[in-house]
Amino acid sequence: VSHFSGVRLKVVVCRHLGPAMPPLLERKDVDIVLWPEDRSCERAWLLENIKGAAGVLVLIPDFEVNQELLDAAGPNLRVVSTMSVGYEHIDVPLMAQNGIRVGYTPDVLTEAVADITIMLALMAGRNDGVAYTLVKNGEWCKPNFGWSPFTFCGPQLSTSLSSPTRTVGFLGFGRIAQATLSRLIPFGITHCIYTASPTSQPDTARDDALKAKHNLKGLDRVDIDRLARESDVLFLLTPGGKETYHLVDAAFLRKMKPMSVLVNTSRGSVVDSDALATALREKWIWGAGLDVVEGEPAITSDHPLVKESRCVMVPHIGSATFQTRLDMATCAIDNLIQGVFGGEMPAELKQ
Ligand code: DGY
Repeated sequence: VSHFSGVRLKVVVCRHLGPAMPPLLERKDVDIVLWPEDRSCERAWLLENIKGAAGVLVLIPDFEVNQELLDAAGPNLRVVSTMSVGYEHIDVPLMAQNGIRVGYTPDVLTEAVADITIMLALMAGRNDGVAYTLVKNGEWCKPNFGWSPFTFCGPQLSTSLSSPTRTVGFLGFGRIAQATLSRLIPFGITHCIYTASPTSQPDTARDDALKAKHNLKGLDRVDIDRLARESDVLFLLTPGGKETYHLVDAAFLRKMKPMSVLVNTSRGSVVDSDALATALREKWIWGAGLDVVEGEPAITSDHPLVKESRCVMVPHIGSATFQTRLDMATCAIDNLIQGVFGGEMPAELKQ
């Protein structure tokens, strides 16, 4: 939409969005203020430039969208669009109180994140951190690192003769969790358990449909204690924020199986990093595959989890495919433009 009346609306975009930018830059009905550098935009710059803006497009690492930002923007602000599915960096109730619409980018990243979730489950289970580093360091040629019956072994993701049933667990069972589950079916998985937000109603119709579709023997919504105790591979796919802060702590990890693998492709804040490092070191669990860590991106080689050989960590790249990032950027721009002109946003957060 554009209801161009001759008055150009100001929008602030906190990062150049590559191939998604040209259609935005060509618009005649908005004045675009674009952070000029290829790194996170500085808050001081945003506070200065957001004055009088009708819309702002932010990225996850940029900053809190809070009262300070609203004060700096003034009364014209109508929409905050984030290029992410997660929105814990936005004070959503505050936006609602001020009549500011919030756009985000669900759906378009589901498949990419589900892909990397499986990748991390395989890497963490199969000792990839140790094995890959060893090859890179030129150590494969050393005695004892050739093929040998049990060297480098780890738990198998798929079912096997000696282990015909594997239970996958999900902390959070939304779109990405369900897309991950469908990728696990060819691995022979027939048992799935999950927890959902205590405030959400059980969705038996959906679960019955999923069970039938995937020919599952079990698909059960369970409490967090059972999730910890019974999962062979546990996937954390829950939103961040206060409700899920450190749900995976020492008490939770102590209940997990010694051969279990934990994968986090949601938010770092869900896991107590020190407790996870202890769990790995003391072998409460087998391994961890992490795309996100509390305190990221300030993670250095002396971080307790980086030092753990059974922890495979990648730097929050779950949605980082060319295709998905283009789709996310396009969705975020469309949300921004529809939002400032009062149109229907492709993905508006219902507040
Ligand atoms: C999101 O969009 O919230 C993801 O974390 C990006 O990968």
